[in-house]
Amino acid sequence: MKLKDKVAVVTGAASGMGKAIAELYASEGAKVIVADLNLDGAQEVVNGITANGGSATAVQVNVAKQEDVDNMIDTAVSTYGTLDILVNNAGIMDGFEPVGDILDERWDLIFDINTKGVMRAMRKALPIFLEKGKGNIINTASTGGLNGAHAGATYGASKHAVIGLTKNTGYMYAQKGIRCNAIAPGAVATNISASMKNVNPFGIERTKPVQGVIPRVGQPEEIAQVALFLASDESSFVNGTVVTADGGWTAAF
Ligand SMILES: NC(=O)c1ccc[n+]([C@@H]2O[C@H](COP(=O)([O-])OP(=O)(O)OC[C@H]3O[C@@H](n4cnc5c(N)ncnc54)[C@H](O)[C@@H]3O)[C@@H](O)[C@H]2O)c1
Repeated sequence: MKLKDKVAVVTGAASGMGKAIAELYASEGAKVIVADLNLDGAQEVVNGITANGGSATAVQVNVAKQEDVDNMIDTAVSTYGTLDILVNNAGIMDGFEPVGDILDERWDLIFDINTKGVMRAMRKALPIFLEKGKGNIINTASTGGLNGAHAGATYGASKHAVIGLTKNTGYMYAQKGIRCNAIAPGAVATNISASMKNVNPFGIERTKPVQGVIPRVGQPEEIAQVALFLASDESSFVNGTVVTADGGWTAAF
């Protein structure tokens, strides 16, 4: 058991990679707050975890709302006594818009969820980690946070910002026992395409050559294994960096 008695919060845990991370953490002994906008989906994940003998609690959170994020972290502490691991995984796609076609409303929403949501949860968790002298943050970025043509301008910018936040946080608190790393998944089989609205024909056409060299689509469980490594003491010297898990896709560029 690599996470025995650790308390973990995982956002976006009703589906895809967040679900796989919550399930793997619970099977490794962690008590998991399964946090998602979709409460029914989160409760289903909790039911699966508890049926397998694990401990988990569903919490509804919109990471774009500070009061929801506060409640999510407070629930971890009130239910399980503390917080050890924070996985900021909730995220949505854009519609592959190039900058000329960005709508302010969509830009603001994507940044509010993908980027500011990560900051909100880290800011709320930090006092707990500082008091303990120990804490572990894992942010789901994207290969789109390292490269220019994996989605539209908004999604790419929001994930580049997550990587910047991750590096700054990893460095700032490195001597306080806190680690902060990001995962950059390539293409993974999840429900993320449901969050794509009004796909931009020009933008998606421009990304086609890049998508064309994807070696294969990954499974959420393969990303969960990276998140387990980063959450466990096996990665004790890994901090402020990005682990790419894309089956070799971005090795092409
Ligand atoms: N699937 C991919 O190919 C891929 C590649 C790279 C990065 N990512 C990133 O991985 C993360 C997980 O996505 P996924 O692919 O598993 O998608 P998914 O759609 O299967 O899961 C995302 C979950 O986040 C939840 N969510 C959405 N908005 C939320 C909000 N405001 N507050 C709380 N929860 C919210 C959704 O309800 C959903 O359950 C995202 O940050 C995404 O950008 C995905």
